[in-house]
Amino acid sequence: MDYFEINGSKTLNGVVEVGGAKNAVLPLMAATILNKGKLRISNVPTLSDSITMSKLLEEMGVEVKFESDNSIFVDSSKLDTPFAPYDLVKTMRASFYVLGPLLARFGKAKVSLPGGCAWGPRPVDFHLEGLKALGVKISIENGYVVADGSNLTGNKIHFPKISVGATGNVVMVAILAKGRTTITNAASEPEIQQLCEMLNSMGANISGIGSNILTIEGVSSLNSISNISVIPDRIEAGTFLIAAAAIGGEVEVTNIIPEHLDSVINCLQKANIQLEVKDSSIVVRSKKEDILSTNIETNEYPGFPTDLQAQWMMLMCLAKGNSTIKENIYYDRFTHIMELNRLGCNIKLEDSVAIIEGDRKLIGADVMSTDIRASAALIIAALCASGTTKISRIYHIDRGYDNIEKKLTNIGAEIFRKK
Ligand code: UD1
Repeated sequence: MDYFEINGSKTLNGVVEVGGAKNAVLPLMAATILNKGKLRISNVPTLSDSITMSKLLEEMGVEVKFESDNSIFVDSSKLDTPFAPYDLVKTMRASFYVLGPLLARFGKAKVSLPGGCAWGPRPVDFHLEGLKALGVKISIENGYVVADGSNLTGNKIHFPKISVGATGNVVMVAILAKGRTTITNAASEPEIQQLCEMLNSMGANISGIGSNILTIEGVSSLNSISNISVIPDRIEAGTFLIAAAAIGGEVEVTNIIPEHLDSVINCLQKANIQLEVKDSSIVVRSKKEDILSTNIETNEYPGFPTDLQAQWMMLMCLAKGNSTIKENIYYDRFTHIMELNRLGCNIKLEDSVAIIEGDRKLIGADVMSTDIRASAALIIAALCASGTTKISRIYHIDRGYDNIEKKLTNIGAEIFRKK
């Protein structure tokens, strides 16, 4: 199994370019199921998750070609099997995104339930309740969701908690249901905005995009579009901003949409990190000794993203004074604490609040990745630590970061992938 060996205590300097968003490309790829189209998706990050989604589509009869310029060509005209097997769904929960479009196109689908996750139970009840409200009959058989949606009808749906995945799945059905659907407490994440905009360009009628109320007038069919470019990954961008802030130096993070990072920019500025926000990039200038402790809470967009919680925790270990992080999305998403503590951090957990002691001196050690973003926090920690750190199980990071070691090496880090 590959691992990273990292020599710490170097500063970062230079330019790092952000790729397309993992959490946008996956629903966009799933949406190609909706009709018999041929679509080129550009700015696609090379991630194991995009490859898993392509394998899943191929299993169903979709043709997917990865091209050399970070684009993929998807031809869904021969899709004939509305079935998503456990083997693929268990490796990537976002596979569940195929349920909605399969139902909308075929009126039926059989999709494996995703199962558990390192952060806790992560149920799919909102997806299923939302689909039932649109007239879908659902049963659970041998670990699979068996869904029959031959008579889809619009309805009023209120999600008990904002859910990115449930919003995406339900929208992809509602666009082809008879009549109007109103979704309240809908997700407004930029990745969901891009999905809705893509669906509208295919002939759907969704209004309220970017707010928490979506109104969808059902249409009888969709047309094809030929091109779409994936929005920049705000989580990859935030990871590099926090890394540069923690490690020190001057780094320009390019190819981003700064508005998507407003909450992160705001928190970094409160932590006394110098930022220059330009049209499509941000320059970070940081000295470790200037970082101030700042309490945060994770929240749905436009709040501080849970996907940057682990990286922020690492930054706060270097700040002057103690701080807290309240995790409001995934109450158990704290597996990184024990690993960060192995590197010399001192973080305690009380309910879903992490209490972080600042001004820690980190020392390299052997640590283990537990999920995509926890791995990113460990890389940042290793780059701040004295000596050498070995991070194992880096297959987690390959799910969400395209060539992170190359991007970091280009700005002065010493990080090596080894077997
Ligand atoms: C997406 C992101 C993930 C991010 C998360 C929260 C993708 C591919 N993944 O995951 O990176 O961390 O949003 O921003 O886009 N919930 C239920 N029942 C459901 C669905 C969700 O109780 O049926 C709960 C979850 O347990 C969680 C909250 O709702 O507490 C939000 O989860 P959700 O937004 O659905 O996350 P994902 O779409 O899985």
